[in-house]
Amino acid sequence: MYRGKSLPTDPVETHSGSLAFEAIGMTFPDGTEALREISFSLGKSEFVTVVGPSGCGKSTLLRIASGLLEPTAGSVDIDRERLGYVFQDATLLPWRTVQGNVELFAELHGIPPDERRLLARETIDLVGLQGFEGHYPKSLSGGMRMRCSLARSLTLKPPVFLFDEPFGAVDEITREHLNDETQQLFQQEGFAGLFITHSISEAVFMSTRVLVMSARPGLIVAEFEVPFDYPRPPELRFDPAFAELCGQVSHELRGYHS
Ligand SMILES: Nc1ncnc2c1ncn2[C@@H]1O[C@H](COP(=O)(O)OP(=O)(O)OP(=O)(O)O)[C@@H](O)[C@H]1O
Ligand SMILES: [Mg+2]
Repeated sequence: MYRGKSLPTDPVETHSGSLAFEAIGMTFPDGTEALREISFSLGKSEFVTVVGPSGCGKSTLLRIASGLLEPTAGSVDIDRERLGYVFQDATLLPWRTVQGNVELFAELHGIPPDERRLLARETIDLVGLQGFEGHYPKSLSGGMRMRCSLARSLTLKPPVFLFDEPFGAVDEITREHLNDETQQLFQQEGFAGLFITHSISEAVFMSTRVLVMSARPGLIVAEFEVPFDYPRPPELRFDPAFAELCGQVSHELRGYHS
């Protein structure tokens, strides 16, 4: 386990379509210091999850990665051309069907209608929404809406996927199903993932690495490598080694709660 203010970055990996934060700091105009000296990188075949107390700056970090927000210190190295981004809210257009919503990003990227129809069909299958193409968001469950949001980003075949607590609003069993599926997609599709969550078991189950952030101003206070091979079976959650690692992450997280 690593403890300290900053983590080593790997410049070679960032050139192959991943992500690197270099000494990122964020102080808002009202003087709120949200982030301080955040440095870490995301390799091509990594799924890194950040856990941290509410308000420590996790969403701010993702907004900086996506380019929605300019940091007040440091730099970020990322290819934003085809970036997957799944928010806590599925952000679907209510007047479009599942098919129409899934085609949206491809449409905005100027992909021709025939091609994007095919792409949408492919990713709808990948997330298990086949048969619901003609449904509107209001007739979908929370989990299905998140699947739809995931499919929409998958059409761009993004090398990097950002997830901001996407499954926070669904029940625990549905969340576990979505974690199983996300982990399979990570393997099949080969994207690098940066995932934010409050759930320690979600973090450990899906990730290659878990980073723990302190309370605001957020800085990385601990890092855990997750040693379990992919694909990870659902029963892994009952493995004593899994529980032990969750306990260690929890300990670090609680240690830094103010
Ligand atoms: N535009 C803004 N202006 C001022 N302060 C802001 C702004 N956006 C966020 N903050 C503050 O920055 C801190 C970090 O916010 P952020 O949303 O990144 O936290 P978070 O870790 O995602 O929290 P949660 O787990 O509750 O989603 C908070 O104290 C928040 O109030
Ligand atoms: Mg947040």
